[in-house]
Amino acid sequence: MSSGSPRVLPAGSGIAEAAAVLRTGGLVAFPTETVYGLGANALDARAAARIFEAKARPSFDPLITHLADAADLPGLVGAVPPAVAALVERFWPGPLTLIVDRPAAIPPIVTSGLATMAVRVPDEPSARALIAAAGVPVAAPSANRFGQLSPTRAEHVVAGLGDAVDVVLDGGPTRCGIESTIVDARGDRPVVLRLGALPVEALVEAVGPVDVRPGSSGQPVAPGGLAAHYAPRTPLRLGTAEPAPGDGGRRGFLAFRERPAAGDWAAVEVLSPEGDPTVAAARLFDALHRLDAAGVTEIVAEPVPDVGVGRAINDRLRRAAATWH
Ligand code: TXA
Ligand code: MG
Repeated sequence: MSSGSPRVLPAGSGIAEAAAVLRTGGLVAFPTETVYGLGANALDARAAARIFEAKARPSFDPLITHLADAADLPGLVGAVPPAVAALVERFWPGPLTLIVDRPAAIPPIVTSGLATMAVRVPDEPSARALIAAAGVPVAAPSANRFGQLSPTRAEHVVAGLGDAVDVVLDGGPTRCGIESTIVDARGDRPVVLRLGALPVEALVEAVGPVDVRPGSSGQPVAPGGLAAHYAPRTPLRLGTAEPAPGDGGRRGFLAFRERPAAGDWAAVEVLSPEGDPTVAAARLFDALHRLDAAGVTEIVAEPVPDVGVGRAINDRLRRAAATWH
């Protein structure tokens, strides 16, 4: 664990300085529309290695490469299959990560030795400005220690990584709040490898039927694909607000739209009083970070309706719960 603090700069005015840090092999945490990323020059194997070190991330877990603009894709990877090109056209910039062949310019450490590479263009102006100013593709996983909650605020990054990161760009809370959807569209039918901020329904509408196989493909092991992941430090289980008999501890409740009418809850977080899964996704990790800090002995989380981005929320909650069982 690092004890010191990183330099925190505003996401607007800090870009030139942060870009210089990236160019010289440093680590910059920056906001995207999904979660904060921990960025390094994707062309520089030593810089990429620092990401794995800072996150205590296993080397078998490949990174996502971020580009400033969809127009930069051909220059890096050459031609892509038509279905991949169609998804780029339709959803970039946006919370969709696509699988392509790894180009020779990207060192194998970035893809954990895989012949493929995950790539996306974030829909956040400061992120795109940062990548453009750095002038290199930026490898960036979520800016949290491996297995822990993803950061949706600069404060989460500072608390989690300390001075293991050189600079944190603070752009306030992220808009989507959960990670990008990862799709491999190189074969006959696109495969969703990780449920995320772009709903499956939107993919189907754009390209027809897709297979949803989060984490089932064995290799690579996606962080989002590990059975146990996205975990708060406090034990979490899925459940309802019915008081559990004989339970004496201080418990926290994560509600979808309504505060529990009864029960002895030490802390309650309501994700979306209006019952909107998109709003709930934007607040999910922030609410879990707060419950984690509330000194409760257990977090009970209520599943949300399993449609749209709600599927990705439930996926995150199940994986968080799996850490404790
Ligand atoms: O929204 C996001 O995607 C955020 C922001 C920062 O862009 N990034 C993010 O990165 O969530 P991370 O490292 O937490 O998750 C990256 C995921 C992992 O599950 C990894 O295994 C998968 O991408 N991945 C990377 N390269 C892959 C590949 N070649 N094939 C399949 N999955 C891959
Ligand atoms: Mg992650």
